[in-house]
Order: sequence, then structure tokens, then C-alpha cells
Amino acid sequence: MEFSKDFLIGGAFAANQVEGAYNEGGRGWSTIDMYKMETSGGHFELTMAEIQEALQGDAKDYPKRRGIDFYHRYLEDLDLFQEMGFKILRLSIDWTRIYPNGDDETPNREGIDFYHRLFDELLKRNIQPMVTLNHFDTPLNLTLTCNGWESRKTLDCFKRYVETVLDEYHEKVKYWLTFNELDAALISPYLCSGMLAEKTEDKKFGKYQGLHHQLLGCAYAAKYIHENYPELRLGCMMTKNLKYAKTCRPEDNLTCLQEVQMGCMVNDVQVFGEYPYYVKNPWKKAGFKLKTEPGDMEFLKNNTVDFVSFSYYASLVTSHDKSGDDPTNANLLVGEKNPYLKTTEWGWQIDPVGLRYSLNELYDRYKKPIFIAENGLGAVDHLIGNTVEDDYRIEYIRDHLKQVLYAIDDGVDCFGYTYWGCIDCIAASTSQMKKRYGFIYVDQDDEGNGSGNRYRKKSFDWYKKVIQTNGRSLFES
Ligand code: BG6
Repeated sequence: MEFSKDFLIGGAFAANQVEGAYNEGGRGWSTIDMYKMETSGGHFELTMAEIQEALQGDAKDYPKRRGIDFYHRYLEDLDLFQEMGFKILRLSIDWTRIYPNGDDETPNREGIDFYHRLFDELLKRNIQPMVTLNHFDTPLNLTLTCNGWESRKTLDCFKRYVETVLDEYHEKVKYWLTFNELDAALISPYLCSGMLAEKTEDKKFGKYQGLHHQLLGCAYAAKYIHENYPELRLGCMMTKNLKYAKTCRPEDNLTCLQEVQMGCMVNDVQVFGEYPYYVKNPWKKAGFKLKTEPGDMEFLKNNTVDFVSFSYYASLVTSHDKSGDDPTNANLLVGEKNPYLKTTEWGWQIDPVGLRYSLNELYDRYKKPIFIAENGLGAVDHLIGNTVEDDYRIEYIRDHLKQVLYAIDDGVDCFGYTYWGCIDCIAASTSQMKKRYGFIYVDQDDEGNGSGNRYRKKSFDWYKKVIQTNGRSLFES
């Protein structure tokens, strides 16, 4: 078994977790700059008071501001990716490098030039970029002035941003993604939609209003691409909420179905162009009505994505009766433990077969080409000499990539895989550095101490061979 020669295999990360240089190049404040390190994770919803405090703090306490200094060290990092033979690098554009306040009249040339240089350097190394338009960052100014995506003003600003980046980079970037894990807006409207709970009018349903505007933003990106640059491809990106029912009790399976459906909601809109019945009906019963403008629904219907992408790290278990829950988490999701699975040091349940299951489930649902935008193992690594013996990471990736091959053999049209956190970076959930995913070790600790130097881990050469052999080496002992 092997991947086809045009299978796009490589790595992934997001601007806010690697770039650093938060106050350089004309960049503005972003919502993501306000997160402190939280070793237990999950503190995604910030308050106005926390933001005010953060604005006085420095990069030492707010790790996403310093990233791994990719902004300055990107050439050396791209050389390492080239050495591994990456065919693709998924990254995101930081909105505030292009429009520092979100609502600026004209874009920031320095920011635009930075990404031009980055894409040129990638292409020179035969690595094609895949760009996420928005990965957990909203210009802070929009949060402070109009509560982010709750307002239609943010949609207008986003449209301008979309036009700018597409006009600038369409010759260099073929694959685009709308929002990273947009479904997570149901869990954290601050993280995904730049909305503060205390400013949100409708405490219960306000998140759907923000999402509606974001979905219109996705549809606008689709329209702009399809009308102006039809050779490009646009995808949506979801957290794969893989849940198994705890028992064969019908009630457990019904709960499981309903939770999985909700995880698909924003993808369903981006693929099918309409809100699914399983949200419309509960909204109606609860008396909630989206604030829309004439033509919104038609606009969603007429402008859908070309492919589907998702992140997959772990699976969870769920049941109808939550009273006896022994909760655990996977990414932003919460569920129950699965006695058949091992976990990572952060408690995420490792489930390679679940990746094959997810690929089949999503392909069956959407019938669109599929891209695995994220998959990876976060672990504590020890640099000994000049390397890390990360056999646990090799095992994780090997087991998952085999399942990708099996899913392709099942008939799923999966056209690529980008390993998440291909170089150690700041964790999204905890802002720790200690939670490392990379093939490349970055000498930097949670407080930002260290040389910042890069070291090849054992998995570096291993992944290189996987790419070189189109996956055949996965089956070598
Ligand atoms: C995904 C995000 O949710 O999971 C990434 O898209 C994130 O930004 C990744 O880094 C892994 O999560 P964490 O918290 O371990 O970095």
C-alpha cells in the first residue's frame, strides 16, 4: 500500500503559535495575544478585565506573542521542511499583519510583503502553501469596538481582508481554508469569533449570530475565489468530533448522534449551503431567530466550498446519562473515557482507527475531496545531545497514517495530510511550550528562556523516509 505521487503530505501550524514578533512589522493587537499560559488549558473565554490586564503585560507572560520567532527564523525552518521533503505546508495569515485594526482603510504593506516573501521561499523549495484565512485570531480592535463577529461590521472588514489576500497571493497559493475549527465557536465565542460574553446581547444564542456572520464570510470567500480565481480551491475546516456511544443502549446512541451532528453544523452550512434541520428546529422551539439581511440564505446556498478538511487528534465516548461522567477532553471537546484506548500525557485518547472511521464518515456525509489538516501528538520531549528519541511520536504517526491508507483503500478521496505542529510551537489550549508536537525541537521553555535553536528529532528522518517512499516505509518493522 502506498500514497499516490500527488498526495499532499507535509506539516501544519498557525501564525499565532509560531510567528511571534507581535509588535513588529506594523502588526496590531489580536484577540489571541491576550491568552496567558494555563497549564490545565480550557480557559478560552476572556473578560474585559483580563484583556485590560493583558494589555499591560509583556510577551513573557503571554507566550503566543513570542511564538517560536518564526517571523525572523523562517528561512532556516523552511530549509528543514524542505530537507524532510514536505510537499505542502499549511499555515495561516495573521489578519492583524494585513489590517492591524481590522477596519483600516488600507492594508499594511509590511505585513503583505512578509507573506509574499514566505510564499516565495516555500515555492522555491517546492513546498506549496495551504493558507487558513483565519486561525483563532480577530483584530482586538473589532472585539473592543463592536464585539467581533457579533457585528456585521466585522463581516465587512473580513470581506476586505479576503479580497486583499486573494488579490495578492492567488498566483502563489492554490489551496485556501476558511476558518480553523469554526465549530469551536460554540464552545468559545472569544477564541473563534472575537466575542466577549459580557458584551453579547443574547447570552444563550448570541454565538449563533456571530457564527452566521462568519458563515457569510466563508461564503464570500467562496464567491470571490470562484468568480475571480477559479483555478484555486477553497475548503472548510472542522474539529472532528469523533464520539462513540458508551453502550448499545438506544438512548446513548441517540445522544451520540446528536452531539456528532452539532459538531458538523458549520461544515454542513459551508458544504450544503443551508442550516441543518437539527439546529433550525431547536432554534424555533426556543424562540430564537437569527438576525439576517435579505439574500443571506440565498448567498449561503450559492457559495459553498470545494473540499472538506478537519483536525483529528483523539476520540471520546458519550452517553445519555451524564450523572456518572468521568470527563476527559480531546482538543476543545469534552467526553468520557474509553477503556480500550491509551492516552497522551495531556489525557487525549489515542485512536488511530478513529481516523479511518472519521474519513469514511465525512466522505460519506459530504462526498467532497477530503484533506487531513491536523493530526499529531503533543508530548514532553527531552533533548539529549542534539536530538530527541521520540519513538512514541513515530508510533502515533505510523499508526494514524496506516489508517489513512486503509481509508483511501476503502474508497475515500483523501488528497493530503499535514502533521500538526511540524516544528515545536506554542500550544493552542494551554499556551505551553512544553507540549511539543514537532519533528524539530525548539530550544525554548514555557517562560521563553532558551537559545531558540532548532534540532532534528528522531521522527525527522523517519517522516522524511515516509515521504520519500510514498508511505511504503510505514509497513517496515
Ligand atoms: C487544534 C488547533 O485545535 O489543535 C491548533 O487548530 C492546536 O491550533 C491543535 O494547536 C493542538 O492543540 P494544542 O492545544 O495541543 O496546541
